[in-house]
Amino acid sequence: MLIAQISDSHMLPPGEIAYGRSDTEAALRSAVAAVNTAGADVVIHTGDFAHDGAPEAYALALEVLQDLDAPLYAIPGNHDDRANMRVAFKGFAWLPEGDGLADFIHYTFDAGPIRVIACDSVIPGESNGELCAARLTWLEAALDAAADKPVIIALHPPPFPCGLPGFGATGLGGADALAAMLAGRTNVLRIIAGHNHRTITGLCGPVPACVAPSVSYPFAFDTIAGAPLAIAYEPPGCAMHLWRKDIGLLTHTLPIGDFGPATPLLKDGKRLLPTSTTR
Ligand SMILES: [Fe+2]
Ligand SMILES: [Fe+2]
Repeated sequence: MLIAQISDSHMLPPGEIAYGRSDTEAALRSAVAAVNTAGADVVIHTGDFAHDGAPEAYALALEVLQDLDAPLYAIPGNHDDRANMRVAFKGFAWLPEGDGLADFIHYTFDAGPIRVIACDSVIPGESNGELCAARLTWLEAALDAAADKPVIIALHPPPFPCGLPGFGATGLGGADALAAMLAGRTNVLRIIAGHNHRTITGLCGPVPACVAPSVSYPFAFDTIAGAPLAIAYEPPGCAMHLWRKDIGLLTHTLPIGDFGPATPLLKDGKRLLPTSTTR
């Protein structure tokens, strides 16, 4: 089972460029090509689908994503507009009913043997996310219902501060309660998140939590006090979560871009290239 996690596409309406440099439509098209080439079985988008939550941006994103070979799931991020997202995803079987304003877009689905618990942590108008009492109650029931399955929890903001001063103190309210809830639940394999636009690994209680890179623009790694949040000229990417019964869940980062074909080196134990050649 190969689960592709794309995140933070920040799609703009047709013809617009983000911050004068990021063609979000082209970036999402590249992400779709990368995920299809990798042979993903399932794709989940972990939020910040559209940069300003505009209906035209959702329509364009869905048009691009219809080229995915695998089924698509999504949760909202702080840049998303629940009502417009609901309109865009109308007809997707996983979209829970609601009025689009106060009702959360969270649900569960099975990716092969894995139960994915997809959580909506959005607080409208705020950069922070929150697992409020109502959402923690829902999440605990979802965990109880999947006690005999391997579980992945999908969030938009990770359950830890990312350590980059440019993000300030933004984070996930209720993260401590989530960590306590996960104690003793050995079937929860991973928390997957986005929001920070670069690959990060941490913990939530006993569970490894990882942030996927953005498929649009990365943020710079700068831990110096007072450093601004800055866009980095690094390749975008996605996370590939590979599960096999014999190896468990492994999370790879897949950079997205045209880097040329890979060079075969070993096959069936046989070396296909000499170790070294002269210059
Ligand atoms: Fe984002
Ligand atoms: Fe975000």
